[in-house]
Amino acid sequence: MMQHQGQSIQGQDNRNHAVKLSDKDFAFICEFVYQNTGIVLNDSKREMLYRRLTRIVRERKLKSFSEYCQLLKSQGDKEKDYFINAITTNLTSFFRENHHFEFLANKELPKLMKNKATLANGKKRLRIWSSASSNGEELYSIAITLHESMKKELSKWDVKILATDIDSNVLATGKSGIYDIKRIEDLPQKQKEKYFYQGCGNSSNSVKVHEKIQSLITFKQLNLLHEWPMKGPFDVIFCRNVIIYFDKATQQDLFARYYELLAPGGLLLLGHSENLGNYQQYFDNVGRTIFRKPL
Ligand SMILES: C[S@@+](CC[C@H](N)C(=O)[O-])C[C@H]1O[C@@H](n2cnc3c(N)ncnc32)[C@H](O)[C@@H]1O
Repeated sequence: MMQHQGQSIQGQDNRNHAVKLSDKDFAFICEFVYQNTGIVLNDSKREMLYRRLTRIVRERKLKSFSEYCQLLKSQGDKEKDYFINAITTNLTSFFRENHHFEFLANKELPKLMKNKATLANGKKRLRIWSSASSNGEELYSIAITLHESMKKELSKWDVKILATDIDSNVLATGKSGIYDIKRIEDLPQKQKEKYFYQGCGNSSNSVKVHEKIQSLITFKQLNLLHEWPMKGPFDVIFCRNVIIYFDKATQQDLFARYYELLAPGGLLLLGHSENLGNYQQYFDNVGRTIFRKPL
């Protein structure tokens, strides 16, 4: 009992006592995040960082951010992964920036269906990569778009959609294909019925995506700063709302690597507030934040 009381008082002390984030610890964390993810944190992100770090410091029952910095230095990959998952911003939604899916449905897929050569195995090959896939909603939007546009043609294609992200938590959600039902509330009723099962009993607030679209997608953990094991070429690369977190040098380096992995005529799609900077000269701008590698 005494011990229980002691723990509880200790817990309360921890909660009530505001832990200070010193400039030194903030600088260490910013550098650690930059080195490990490419994400640039500055003073405008200090509040956000403080909130997310406070949660971890409490979970770890530490007394200060300095102790957490020590833990990060000494604990290796396990703590690092946990920390990175906490630091990333995973905002996404089904059919986010819908003009990209409209472009695929109305322009790109009809064009590919007309022009792609049939391979020796009798199939036409289509490769799509979402390089910051978050929880998979972007991927399932791509797969639904393929189903709706290609219909029966789809069975004649060898289609692979690759989903990668640095964050293992969101990848796990993507792999499971299970979402809160609210996430799909804006989709047309027909799509909800065709591509999602609704849970029952305790799970009635959840939906699970249908195997027919899940089977097109492979989820893998990949840090964009590291070596990429895939060879491509990709017909379409989604790189949406991730380079915004990186500095110009990292962005340019990534654009060069995306360019290499794209098939001639392939598309690179960026997020609404992103642009190619100096790399624009190597691509044709064919739509809003839609860039084509020339043939
Ligand atoms: C805001 S979400 C964008 C999700 C989706 N592309 C969209 O536009 O809806 C950014 C994603 O980038 C991922 N990310 C951040 N740094 C990364 C890195 N170095 N390598 C791979 N993914 C990274 C985050 O984990 C996060 O899931």
